[in-house]
Amino acid sequence: QTIYLKDYKVPAFVVDHVDLRFELFEDGARVHSLLNVRRNPESDSTEKNLELDGDSLTLESIQLDGRTLDEGDYDNRGEKLIVPAVPDQFELAVVTWLEPQNNTRLEGLYKSSGMFCTQCEAQGFRCITYFPDRPDVMARFRTRVEADKAAYPVLLSNGNDVEKGDLENGRHYVTWEDPFPKPSYLFALVAGDLVEKRDSFRTMSGRDIDLRMYIEPRNAEKCDHALDSLKRAMRWDEEVYGREYDLDIFMIVAVDDFNMGAMENKGLNIFNSSCVLASQETATDMAFQRIESIVAHEYFHNWSGNRVTCRDWFQLSLKEGFTVFRDSQFSSDMGSPTVKRIEDAAMLRTAQFAEDAGPMAHPVRPESYMEITNFYTLTIYEKGCEVVGMIRTLLGDEMFRKGSDLYFERHDGQAVTTDDFVRAMEDASGRDLTQFRLWYEQAGTPELTIRDDFDQSSGVYRLSISQTIPDTPGQTNKKPQHIPFALGLLGAGGEPLPLTLTADEQDAPKERVLELTEAEQSFEFHGLDERPVPSLLRHFSAPVRVDYPWTREQLTFLMSNDVDGFNRWDAGQRLAIDVIRSLIGQGDSAPVDPGLIAAYRGLLADDSLDQALVAKMLQLPTEAYLIELAEKPEVQAIHQARERVLSTLANELRDDLMACYHRNTLSGVYEVTPESVARRSLRNTALAWLLHVNDDEARSLALAQYADADNMTDRMGALRALVGSDFEEDREATLDDFYQRFQKDPQVVEQWFSVQAASGRTGSLPQIQQLMQHPAFDWKNPNKIRSVIGAFAGQNLPAFHAEDGSGYRFLSEQVCRLDDSNPQIAARLVSPLTRWRKFAPVHGDQMKAALEKVSQKSGLSRDVYEVVHKSLAGK
Ligand code: ARG
Ligand code: ZN
Repeated sequence: QTIYLKDYKVPAFVVDHVDLRFELFEDGARVHSLLNVRRNPESDSTEKNLELDGDSLTLESIQLDGRTLDEGDYDNRGEKLIVPAVPDQFELAVVTWLEPQNNTRLEGLYKSSGMFCTQCEAQGFRCITYFPDRPDVMARFRTRVEADKAAYPVLLSNGNDVEKGDLENGRHYVTWEDPFPKPSYLFALVAGDLVEKRDSFRTMSGRDIDLRMYIEPRNAEKCDHALDSLKRAMRWDEEVYGREYDLDIFMIVAVDDFNMGAMENKGLNIFNSSCVLASQETATDMAFQRIESIVAHEYFHNWSGNRVTCRDWFQLSLKEGFTVFRDSQFSSDMGSPTVKRIEDAAMLRTAQFAEDAGPMAHPVRPESYMEITNFYTLTIYEKGCEVVGMIRTLLGDEMFRKGSDLYFERHDGQAVTTDDFVRAMEDASGRDLTQFRLWYEQAGTPELTIRDDFDQSSGVYRLSISQTIPDTPGQTNKKPQHIPFALGLLGAGGEPLPLTLTADEQDAPKERVLELTEAEQSFEFHGLDERPVPSLLRHFSAPVRVDYPWTREQLTFLMSNDVDGFNRWDAGQRLAIDVIRSLIGQGDSAPVDPGLIAAYRGLLADDSLDQALVAKMLQLPTEAYLIELAEKPEVQAIHQARERVLSTLANELRDDLMACYHRNTLSGVYEVTPESVARRSLRNTALAWLLHVNDDEARSLALAQYADADNMTDRMGALRALVGSDFEEDREATLDDFYQRFQKDPQVVEQWFSVQAASGRTGSLPQIQQLMQHPAFDWKNPNKIRSVIGAFAGQNLPAFHAEDGSGYRFLSEQVCRLDDSNPQIAARLVSPLTRWRKFAPVHGDQMKAALEKVSQKSGLSRDVYEVVHKSLAGK
């Protein structure tokens, strides 16, 4: 059954206050809820019945204004509780019984390593009690948690703790009150035997906020980074957006079993352990950076999401797109802006473009869904972020800030739409964003075709740009969108040229943001002596594909001359892609363009360049991206061509790589600064390349680096390099050692699983099956599933796409197995199969068959049903 945006109606009833009492036991939990309900003055509905959502609940009792209702007085079928003919204002008391200890879906109230915790977004609250579980119903919550004092000394919920005390039978309670009205999806509860780490933050208005982090005792030493990140995020949001924290306490809890990364519950953020816990010995630089950005993301939601929330789930990108935008700005300010932009763009082009071209393609503001958890997508998050970024580019920094101030002020305490967001931006800036709104409405990645010519006699350079947007499920004949297109022109010596739009313009700027609004447009630039080299779509100023007939000479030129770091990187990627593509199917002795080798040699030698950028530029385009770009990708052939380039570069540049390795060996204390992160990254890239060709000296370096490392980045770098080599004995011995060293730490064991599952040498299907037999593997833990099965299907592409279809069959079996216990994770895991139409029939038919197998499973969840059926539907 499908839900449509066009059917939205304001709720007939609102809830002003919710009083909850949780009795937590080992064999279940009893939830007493008392709702103050009132007819919604903003609704013209004459609905007489109160409709509440409920899922997997046992209803124990229900009272209306103190009168107990009998079974005949209400209707409790399916996922609704309907109380007929209610008064205009009343109190409803409901008691439900649930079994958190048996909740494997990890939605609602469940247990993770012995503690109680919750995940309510999007629709988990209805698994706790009956409620109008929709974000436009905002209520004030008071929550009393009761549990055994010895087993659950820490009892948490949203807001401030207002009362606590002991009860009979060794039990105790704490009562929490949240003064801010909130939707039910922001409710949270935690009960466990947890250690508390405290810190504090003084806000810009001088209020002292208690920062508290709750972890299992074994993780006590892994909190500093998250707390430091939190304080940086709090300061940054004050400085950049003028947003101050609003409660007296801010809490973070780490749980091991969590479907997603983290959750922004009001005043009580709950995190997947892998997205919050870090120490030098156990977390890589990448993990440190990821944690900083996720902690910030969840914190920023306090304004973009909690104070101003979503009217309905079609508006999800209102909070997610904007919050991702805010966290990327933050990361960019904390580290290297160019590198952050490269990482974001690379992810978007690899994975979001693929989603936008597949059967689940949907607009940033979807029009319909069957299961909302399937719409926590790269399109909602990352493309949504790009859309906000384009608004900022069009308005400029100052107007954008005026717009966000107006948005927060105008809608504080409300549940609103993406359109309200855009209107605030329009009203503050005076700009008309009517056409721009199509970014929210039309799915699919716009494709720009760019051609140019130069007229020597007049000195005019002309760029012609046409845009088309491919058809996506349910959408054809799309309208042109409003695209900010940043452009520069380079002279023969590499110098930036003025972009003179009319013959008499003086002192024209050297970079411009052109605004594309039509299907075809052209732009003329005057006063040029010779044909310039264009630097197109600088900073990746819009999430679009660009087709331009670059020559390898132009790309090499841009790689070393463009003032825009992003486009330097992009030119390098395009050059490498062009070279790799030309080698596909050419066998193992086909020559690799010496131009590419020379370009990489230049990069390796140049110590004056931003080393963080060099580290990024040295990474070859991933197999996933090469596959995304190909029409009917031959996965094995793409893999071989890429390997051929890799080993040629490693052989030809051996001495340069060695020099780079040694030059970037750091001494002194470990620190996570952009500079040292870049050096470790460069050094580990160099090492991996050298081991790729089984260089014996490099082998010794890797073994020494592994043994001596004082941090996980270097230890993992060495392990990864060895896993990618043919030194089988070293590989096995090091993997064993690694496990012995870290077996007590689940976050590290996950890394150990994924480094093996993602590698062609250690991640063959039989090896994957063996990993799944390993005692540390756990079907109930999403991180373990992702680190083995997810890494295999998403990163070990030649193995997953084995000609005999074994990878596809394997995945479909695992999806079926997971569907009963955790449908959300099952629906995510199935995703690689959904792109079957992209592949030639040898692969595509087998992928399709694997999907059909899933679709035939009995009792298929709504989550998996939606993904599988949409993928099989259509032409
Ligand atoms: N709002 C969370 C975040 O992005 C994600 C919650 C995802 N929940 C889900 N059921 N898919 O920070
Ligand atoms: Zn979010």
